[in-house]
Amino acid sequence: MKNELKERHLFFEDIYKNNFEKDENIPWAKMQTNPFLQEYLESNLVDGKVLVVGCGLGDDAIALELAGAKVTAIDISESAIAWCKKRFDGFETDFVVQDIFELPQDMLRSYDFVFEAFTIQSLPLKFRDKIITAISSLLAPKGKLLVVSNGKQEHESFDGPPWPLNINELKLFGMKE
Ligand SMILES: C[S@@+](CC[C@H](N)C(=O)[O-])C[C@H]1O[C@@H](n2cnc3c(N)ncnc32)[C@H](O)[C@@H]1O
Repeated sequence: MKNELKERHLFFEDIYKNNFEKDENIPWAKMQTNPFLQEYLESNLVDGKVLVVGCGLGDDAIALELAGAKVTAIDISESAIAWCKKRFDGFETDFVVQDIFELPQDMLRSYDFVFEAFTIQSLPLKFRDKIITAISSLLAPKGKLLVVSNGKQEHESFDGPPWPLNINELKLFGMKE
């Protein structure tokens, strides 16, 4: 398991590192707020402590900061985080190199709102349970979670990446502590 996770880490790090500041070469980077987050922010107040998981190039984190939140944004890729810091110099969002599977104690149950887009589906299915548990562990009591992912029917199988989520996997978020 560890080797496979390391491989995924290197996959992401290599893409960001080899294409530093060439966002046209990062397949998932839109360089704008995720439209589902944008829509959410138009009708919901998000303040307090916010965590963005797998923040990529940082646009969603900055949208949340501009909405009034105190934002921490994590990504496993050192180059992605360096790129975010360069792009958003002068903003208050704390961009941090952090593996979602190695969260420090002080991040646990700490966030009023957690946002993730396309990170869960970017990891092989065997890590699904583990990442759902890890993301759930970030939420403070009554904290809210917004997940953006491709979806699939339960019976469909995908030879990822990506590995879309089905409705039953989404429901697991409500069942984790
Ligand atoms: C498909 S990209 C999506 C990035 C961003 N959320 C977006 O929508 O543009 C998945 C992101 O998850 C990050 N990632 C992968 N494994 C991770 C892990 N174990 N911990 C934290 N971030 C991880 C990758 O480096 C990458 O930036």
